[in-house]
Amino acid sequence: MLICRTERPGDGDEIDEVVCTAFDREDEADLVWALREQAAISLSQVAEYEGAIIGHLAMSPVFINGEDIGWLALAPISVWPDCQRQGVATAMIQSVLDSANELDWAGVVLLGDPRFYSRFGFKPALELGLEYAASDTGEQLMAMAFKQPAPSGLVTYHPAFEKCEG
Ligand SMILES: CC(C)(COP(=O)(O)OP(=O)(O)OC[C@H]1O[C@@H](n2cnc3c(N)ncnc32)[C@H](O)[C@@H]1OP(=O)(O)O)[C@@H](O)C(=O)NCCC(=O)NCCS
Repeated sequence: MLICRTERPGDGDEIDEVVCTAFDREDEADLVWALREQAAISLSQVAEYEGAIIGHLAMSPVFINGEDIGWLALAPISVWPDCQRQGVATAMIQSVLDSANELDWAGVVLLGDPRFYSRFGFKPALELGLEYAASDTGEQLMAMAFKQPAPSGLVTYHPAFEKCEG
């Protein structure tokens, strides 16, 4: 049975392996460590199957117009290659969105393919008037507001992301 749960102390190395293997490089795993070390992980979700961690996603705070107003970025998300396309990422995303909403966060942004993320209720951020501060990402910046009114303006990710672009 697939279990989606919050990261626990001691999971870090296993998460690191999943992230490195999914991306086939170390940048995103380094990003997860950097966020963790800077206490910038607001939610960290793992997918566990038969005792092994096979998926991970992190949520970190973003600034909107330079202010922390309770919005989060969902990134990075990783699923062990042999376990992809079986709904693992979908289960983790649904679970973490429920948690974020219950924990009273205001909304979530992410950079990703609209065809994938629209199924969870994400909309192009531009529809809300939100833009990624670092570059023009077109439709790739997606957003979901848990609280109204939703903000508009410039979205800035945590500084740890600057080292992990491209
Ligand atoms: C992206 C990733 C997390 C998806 O995990 P997964 O468990 O395979 O996803 P699911 O099985 O829940 O969903 C699969 C569906 O999402 C789509 N999908 C998955 N990743 C996608 C992507 N990067 N872009 C577009 N569509 C994607 C698939 O086409 C599939 O669609 P379908 O259901 O219509 O066939 C996984 O492929 C991965 O770890 N990739 C490497 C790391 C990465 O690129 N992460 C995303 C950037 S942060």
